[in-house]
Amino acid sequence: MQNTLPKMPGTGEARARVEVKSVSKSFSTKEGTTQALRMIDLVARDQEFTCIVGPSGCGKSTLFNIIAGLLEPTSGRVLVDGVPVEAGIAGRMGYMQQKDLLIPWRTIVQNVTVGLEIQRRPIAEARETALSYLKLFGLEKYRDSYPASLSGGMRQRVALMRTLAMGQDIILMDEPFQSLDYPTRIALEADLLEMVRELKRTVLFITHDIEEAVSIADKVYVLSKGPGTVRDLRTIRLNMKRESPIDARKNPDFHMHYAAIWNQLEVVTDLKKEHAK
Ligand SMILES: Nc1ncnc2c1ncn2[C@@H]1O[C@H](COP(=O)(O)OP(=O)(O)O)[C@@H](O)[C@H]1O
Ligand SMILES: [Mg+2]
Repeated sequence: MQNTLPKMPGTGEARARVEVKSVSKSFSTKEGTTQALRMIDLVARDQEFTCIVGPSGCGKSTLFNIIAGLLEPTSGRVLVDGVPVEAGIAGRMGYMQQKDLLIPWRTIVQNVTVGLEIQRRPIAEARETALSYLKLFGLEKYRDSYPASLSGGMRQRVALMRTLAMGQDIILMDEPFQSLDYPTRIALEADLLEMVRELKRTVLFITHDIEEAVSIADKVYVLSKGPGTVRDLRTIRLNMKRESPIDARKNPDFHMHYAAIWNQLEVVTDLKKEHAK
């Protein structure tokens, strides 16, 4: 079947947007030094969907903070469109953090305009942009509601809108759907894929959930437990057209990818060790 994307993501044809080169990171605290990341190399190409999986505490969020320029690596560097990212230059990328909560006293449209206000856009323009995003994804009727009156899934959709409305074409998403129940999660995955397709965004996405990674990603980086290193890079491409995450789960290759990633995560060996104690 013909691929509809302009260039095949992950094939080496599309240009590199984000390049992480030999990045290591240690934190010094009064308890001592923790090494969070060791010699990470990663590339995300234009319009590619890259997932990062790895056990809790392996440095995934730290890696995103470094990519976003919020944190400086101890060694190594990050290039965005070939230009080194300097710490302190946040805002070149959209970033949906692990706990990206809505502001309870702001309406839905005002929650979406927050990021645009931070970008110092005129308020009328920010509102217009926010409304166009809400309309595009069928949330317009909630524009004057408050977050408390919406379901968890709806609130997460609004948080997604807020990130996308800021307009950056590279988006970092740190476990955005982890608190949602399964059907809501699938619905949000489908929404995200549609947005990424329509808006031609390049996405880096952290998840715990191997099924989620395999059903939405073009490729998956598997990190080892802390200090995080790249244990495996797996090309998936079950969903290059950014269609239903359910259809991808029905693909005959789905389980092969799932098992391969599962075997790379050190969950089973850890459980055995627990039992042996
Ligand atoms: N600001 C910090 N100061 C000290 N240690 C930190 C800091 N941020 C993260 N860490 C440590 O770095 C490791 C990786 O954390 P994190 O990136 O949050 O992992 P993950 O997102 O994969 O769960 C953990 O051991 C964590 O305790
Ligand atoms: Mg994290």
